[in-house]
Amino acid sequence: MPTPSEYLNHAAVIIVTGGSSGIGCSIIKAIKTVGTNAVVCNLSRSKPDIFSDKTGLHISTDLSSASALQTAAERLELIIDEAPPGKVLLFNNSGFGDYGRIEELDRCKQLTMIDLNVKAVVDLTLRLLPKMLERGGVVVNVASTSAFQPTPFLATYGATKSFVLNWTLALNEDLRGTSVRALAVCPGPTRSNFFKSAGFETPPMNSGANATLDMTSDQVAEYTLNALAKGRSMVVTGWKNKCIAFFGSKFPIVAVTRIGGVILRKLRLEQHRKH
Ligand SMILES: NC(=O)c1ccc[n+]([C@@H]2O[C@H](COP(=O)([O-])OP(=O)(O)OC[C@H]3O[C@@H](n4cnc5c(N)ncnc54)[C@H](OP(=O)(O)O)[C@@H]3O)[C@@H](O)[C@H]2O)c1
Repeated sequence: MPTPSEYLNHAAVIIVTGGSSGIGCSIIKAIKTVGTNAVVCNLSRSKPDIFSDKTGLHISTDLSSASALQTAAERLELIIDEAPPGKVLLFNNSGFGDYGRIEELDRCKQLTMIDLNVKAVVDLTLRLLPKMLERGGVVVNVASTSAFQPTPFLATYGATKSFVLNWTLALNEDLRGTSVRALAVCPGPTRSNFFKSAGFETPPMNSGANATLDMTSDQVAEYTLNALAKGRSMVVTGWKNKCIAFFGSKFPIVAVTRIGGVILRKLRLEQHRKH
């Protein structure tokens, strides 16, 4: 079984979306720490601080825009064409959530979420797949433990992550026998800007039982690179998250949704009481 370092040695181009913060930033940091000669490209709206030493290529892109994604993908195709022999690693990580009762949430934000969390993942992957099939590579899609069951108060977000998980596992099977494979990463609650941008007043892991689920984005990145090197098709980060994923996917879906609703409603009330 290769180590992450041995695996990354075979890469010529590494593309990460959402490297400007959180899990994406930690993935780029982990790749740099392990060491690689590959060109590392980041796609997000703001430039990652980690690229200030000019060791990476930032392509400023709003991936929720189909035309901006197309322009970025065309640039990436040229970068891949010019790169020395080696694999292409694509990390589809950009994403956001929106927390609250569905009728109180902004409709446009929900649709932009689907554009970014779902459409951009499919679009970027399918645009780059022909070049990846020529060189070999891997598509790493960041899903979530929210993918394993419906998520009341995060209804659209959880459904986008179910799509990402199911699509990635199916993609991996479709690609069997080729030089490209796919990996779905399912983190649980992770310290990043995610909760602020999703509208949580306090990150849920800062309170009660959720506190024990807390993980850093660096830990998630470590799980990701290890799973990549081991050739896994899915990784759920940590045993506590594995238990939640097991419970979410093995129990009757209606009951699991109801229990999730009760827990998240309580969390919502607690957040309101604090303010
Ligand atoms: N944190 C958690 O608890 C958790 C748990 C499970 C899964 N996840 C997933 O992990 C992934 C990374 O999230 P995170 O926790 O690292 O959150 P984060 O710190 O908020 O990072 C989100 C990243 O997505 C990028 N992004 C947002 N909108 C974008 C757009 N329109 N176009 C391009 N890039 C965009 C952001 O870059 P710019 O703002 O510069 O564009 C940022 O780099 C997401 O897919 C999220 O759903 C997070």
